[in-house]
Parts: sequence; C-alpha cells; structure tokens
Amino acid sequence: MSASGYMMEGDEEARRLDLKTVPKAVQEHALWAGLKPGMRVADLGCGSGKTSYYLNKLAQPGGETIGVDNAKQRIEFASSTYQDDGLSFVQKDIRQDLSELGQFDFIWVRFVLEYYRSESFDIVKNVTNLLKPDGVLCLADLDYNCLTHFGLPERLESAVRGMMTMVEEKANFDPYVGRKLYAYLYDLGFRDIDMHLAPHHLIFGELNEIDAFNWKLKVTSEGVKSVYKFDQYEGGYDEFFDEFKRAFEDPRRFTYTPIILCRGKKPA
Ligand SMILES: C[S@@+](CC[C@H](N)C(=O)[O-])C[C@H]1O[C@@H](n2cnc3c(N)ncnc32)[C@H](O)[C@@H]1O
Repeated sequence: MSASGYMMEGDEEARRLDLKTVPKAVQEHALWAGLKPGMRVADLGCGSGKTSYYLNKLAQPGGETIGVDNAKQRIEFASSTYQDDGLSFVQKDIRQDLSELGQFDFIWVRFVLEYYRSESFDIVKNVTNLLKPDGVLCLADLDYNCLTHFGLPERLESAVRGMMTMVEEKANFDPYVGRKLYAYLYDLGFRDIDMHLAPHHLIFGELNEIDAFNWKLKVTSEGVKSVYKFDQYEGGYDEFFDEFKRAFEDPRRFTYTPIILCRGKKPA
C-alpha cells in the first residue's frame, strides 16, 4: 500500500485514468448535476486532469476550474497534458484544510471516496466547507465495484471476491460506496438532492484495448497483490493472473458496474 493511502498508486496510474475516462459521460453527468457557464469549479481527486479539462469547457465562458490531486505524478501529468483558459491544477490532500483554494459554485468528486471506506463521510464534510451557499456538490462513485462478472471459473470468482474482501478490510477500500452517497448529502442537510444511476463498465463480447489495460492494472496493483494470498492457486498470484486474463478475454464473459451520482445544493 502506498504512503498516500491510495490503493492504485503506480507509475502508469495517470495513463490508466486518462485512457479510461470518457469525456461524453463526464460532461453529460456534470450537466445533469447543474454545471453552468461562469461557475467556479473544483474537481477533487482529478487524476490525469482529463475530467477537469472537460468540466472546464462547460464552465466557459467566464468560469474557472481547479483540478486537485495529492499525487505529484498526477498533477505533473495533468499540468503538461491539459492546458486551457481558466484551468489550473494544484497538489493537495482533500482530507486536509482546503480553505486557501477559496469558495466554489460547483464541486465534483468522482471515484475518490471509494478509496476511503472509513473516512469518506468526513471527506464529504470537509469539502462542503469549500462550497458557496447554494453551491452544488456532485459525488459520483461505483457500487458492487469489481464484483459483478458472469462466466468466470468458480475458483477465479472466489479469488476475486476474496480479494475485494481483503482490500475492504486491509486497504480501506469501499466497493459499495456508491449506495452511501445519498445518505451523506441527506445527513449534511443538502437540498434539491437528486440521484442518477448509469452503467460505468458494461463489458461483453471482444475485449477492447482500454478495458484490457484498465483491468490488467486493477488486478496487478501492488495494493491488491499485497493484501491477498491467492490460496486457490498452487502457483499463487501468477497463476491467478493468467486465469484472470484468459477468462476476461473470453467474449462470453459479462461484466457490469453501476455508477451512482448524487448531487445537491448546500443549504444557504
Ligand atoms: C480513481 S482516480 C479518479 C480520477 C478522476 N476523478 C476520475 O474520475 O477519473 C482517484 C484519484 O484521486 C486521487 N486521490 C486519492 N486520495 C486523495 C486525497 N486524499 N486527496 C487528493 N487526491 C486524492 C488519486 O491520486 C487519484 O488520482
């Protein structure tokens, strides 16, 4: 596990995030949440910066977007890859005091809370301090993360479930955070709360290169390898990985993961 607490830390993480981000989905979801031209936007846990870039497009003319991430590698990638009027990036930990960033009309937190099973509500509370009264907070995360496949061999299915249980217990990962988002905004007194559910992964038939790369990095991350023993396999992790690759490349397997979005306005 990396010192930052981020389970997916690794040299290729910015590239993984960049490749798998679909601009059309980000923009559709941000428009649904209420992002409008002229807004001051924070993209917290911005990864490769691709989401910040497309959020910033929607904030124009007249808006501004700050992408925030605590990984130096991600901020360097984002700053050199995505440049635009109104767009900037800053390295910061969203669990800390963020007041020097100023106040925002729209805050977007996608695929970050899942890495903080025990602190996710405190993070939402912390980032709420950055919202102007009536400002919009949009939380987006997965539910049943990595858990819904059909067509995997039985021992592989059991290894995947075992891995996910271990990352919950030992790496503070939350495969079910999506279902908690509504209660978080409800408990903080947000108004005009709305929910949206959509497919995030929807994989059937031939595996495309992006899904192959993304899922390979998911199951080879040190965070995952270090917490699970792969007892189902005499040859340990390597044998598991070969079987995972074969099964995941089989065009008969079916995988889906729902993304759950929750948006609300900060009470005045
Ligand atoms: C799975 S990526 C999501 C990236 C982007 N939000 C997206 O939707 O594609 C999670 C990102 O959150 C960042 N992150 C994790 N913990 C963080 C923290 N405490 N403060 C700021 N960023 C954090 C990671 O470095 C990583 O880039």
